[in-house]
Amino acid sequence: MNKKCDFQILSDLNDDCVYLDSAATSLTPRCVTDKIGEYYNCYNANIHRGIHDWAERATGEYEGVRPIVKEFIGADQDKEIVFTSGTTHGINIVANCFCSDWTSKDTVILSEAEHHANIVPWQQLKARQGLRIEVIPLLPDGHLDFNRLSMAIQQVKGRCIVSMSILPNATGIMLDYQQVSQMSRDHGATVLFDGAQSVPRVKSDVSYCDFLVFSGHKIYGPTGVGILYAGDGLLDEMPPYMGGGDMIKSVRFERTTYNDMPWRYEAGTTNIAGVIGLGVALNWVENIGIENIYQHEKEISDYAQKQLNGLDRVSVLYPEAEKLGLVVFTVNEAQSVDVATLLNTQGVAVRSGYLCAEPILVSQVGRGVLRASFGIYTTQDDIDRLIDALNKVMAIL
Ligand SMILES: Cc1ncc(COP(=O)(O)O)c(C=O)c1O
Repeated sequence: MNKKCDFQILSDLNDDCVYLDSAATSLTPRCVTDKIGEYYNCYNANIHRGIHDWAERATGEYEGVRPIVKEFIGADQDKEIVFTSGTTHGINIVANCFCSDWTSKDTVILSEAEHHANIVPWQQLKARQGLRIEVIPLLPDGHLDFNRLSMAIQQVKGRCIVSMSILPNATGIMLDYQQVSQMSRDHGATVLFDGAQSVPRVKSDVSYCDFLVFSGHKIYGPTGVGILYAGDGLLDEMPPYMGGGDMIKSVRFERTTYNDMPWRYEAGTTNIAGVIGLGVALNWVENIGIENIYQHEKEISDYAQKQLNGLDRVSVLYPEAEKLGLVVFTVNEAQSVDVATLLNTQGVAVRSGYLCAEPILVSQVGRGVLRASFGIYTTQDDIDRLIDALNKVMAIL
């Protein structure tokens, strides 16, 4: 499947560029950028406020994205879909609203492989309220240690939320999220899944969780927009995270009453063009078929891992484990940032450093890494270009 032609950025000017940084942000197809341009050029108005034609059209298109998202992730109701600025925002809402009164009796359980977005909000809550944080390590093969998860859940005394990434951005190894869900729910724990990397490439099913968060810009949509799925009733009565316009029913200096779900958590003017663009991106993905995207990325990931494993000086993180969407590696006796810089001079864009997942990389690798990550437009030819470029880099360094 070659979808490069749908992406303006991959044609004409940039046909020599190999973009292998889709886990950081995916490229955006022309249908999405066109739609964003159309909003600004044809009906650039605020939502939920005006009664003029442009405002009505903007409101209709914005609200029309909720059912698209609902279908895409298998939710039951539009009101379970909150528009956020991204995965980070979604996790912060859950930490600050759902867990607003949690104390040292209550526990959040994370895996060792979390992105900073699923670590720092919990640390902030702990600093304020004393919440317990339990971290479940990975096994030597890169999979979650379920014995440790079971032990941790059984020791919980108060309330518990298990918050984990379905596809960690620093390992590329799928979490057995069904098992995490079952184990957590058997013990009455709430489940939050970070779907930043999984939603763009694996069919999502929110029946396995209470909360699901993801970002538009990793699923071929715009930056600055994302989704928080919150199961019915979970956030309806919670204190909202941000106060302001649109999240209220009535305001008096004596007392304010808050809006219903989902607007309760959409204070102020949101990213209207971003939400509308995200709707187009999800329809575009739906047309290709998420199973086809999964299949394509599986093949590319297997191929990339095999090629990288075949290079003498390259060490792949968890070299035997199946990867999806990305492969993390280092070049022996070379700094990752130097390798990435030299790859860039050959037109190959990869990510280097700690990938916003310092804990796992510090413990497993002990230094910055390189990450090649893929999208629907990535071809085997792109991987061959990476390998050729790496061979040239290794001849110099
Ligand atoms: C697994 C995971 N979680 C969270 C995030 C944060 O996403 P955002 O910066 O879009 O909020 C990322 C981004 O790379 C990620 O890969």
